[in-house]
Amino acid sequence: MKFTTTLSVTMAIAVASATPFRGAGRPFVSKAAAPPGAPVTTKAGEFSPAGPDDFRGPCPMMNTLANHGFLPHNGRNITRETAIRALGQGINFDPALAGLMWDQAIFINPEPNATFFTLDMLNVHNVLEHDASLSRQDAKFGNNHVFDPMIFAQSAMYFTDKVMTPAHIANAKVQRQLTSKATNPEYRFTDSIENFSLGEIAAPFLVFGDIKARTVDRDTVISFITNEKLPDGFKPQATPVTLQQVGDMVVACKNATNLFTKDAGAAPAPGFPANHKRSVTGFGHGMVF
Ligand code: HEM
Ligand SMILES: [Mg+2]
Repeated sequence: MKFTTTLSVTMAIAVASATPFRGAGRPFVSKAAAPPGAPVTTKAGEFSPAGPDDFRGPCPMMNTLANHGFLPHNGRNITRETAIRALGQGINFDPALAGLMWDQAIFINPEPNATFFTLDMLNVHNVLEHDASLSRQDAKFGNNHVFDPMIFAQSAMYFTDKVMTPAHIANAKVQRQLTSKATNPEYRFTDSIENFSLGEIAAPFLVFGDIKARTVDRDTVISFITNEKLPDGFKPQATPVTLQQVGDMVVACKNATNLFTKDAGAAPAPGFPANHKRSVTGFGHGMVF
């Protein structure tokens, strides 16, 4: 798996060079349910779910920031300045990081020299949105941007401890890739998407976790992705989250997707010497060379 700093440091924005957007018609528009009479606008910080005319997309955090009014509640007109302010006020992302993330997403608006995007623009398949999401179905099977409880339940099965490490989320991600590869004839997962995805799985640690220890509380992650809501009493990181921290967390998540183990410390089977080698050809099952 390849990792390039520039791309991987963005949360989910690594495909700027992958697939040029050509204005593939009106993207999907999410119509997340809101209780009758729910307000359609909200003050920064207050939670209010999306109403029928509000745009939402495939990113649980961008939706969350809109639900809390850090981004425009209607999910429209996300300018660079708006994104920097929202990611700063909502989750204490460094302005340089937030600005870079917006820069690498703005091409999603097909207008020349666009100065904003809307959350539903993120829905266009194989531009920023991709297959094997943790909490959304592949576009091939239907809606690619609204939270899907069945898909997310499959992912959350791999969150096997209350305190999550990169291994838990990486296992969930690899499982989603394998499921998609096995069942979706149009499955697509390029190098760029890999980088994009590593940023996504690193993100919950950076927002809700102990960045140094590389841990995050499982219930918080599940609740955030399910409800697109910040936890009650949420306090952002004490110091702004930086590009460097994103890069480090992405590397940790990338390493955690590795399916190999190290031999060191493994007890040999009875009767076999320690550190015996297997046949390199694969035809020597059980034979020691
Ligand atoms: C300008 C800022 C951002 C943009 C444009 C953006 C865009 C996207 C897009 C297009 C996806 C969908 C990819 C897919 O198909 O799964 C996505 C997924 C995701 N994003 Fe963001 N994102 C941004 C910031 C963030 C931040 C700050 C977080 C922090 C928690 C975050 C967390 C996630 C997660 C966890 C996913 C994966 C969801 C899943 O696999 O079901 N994003 N983002
Ligand atoms: Mg997706």
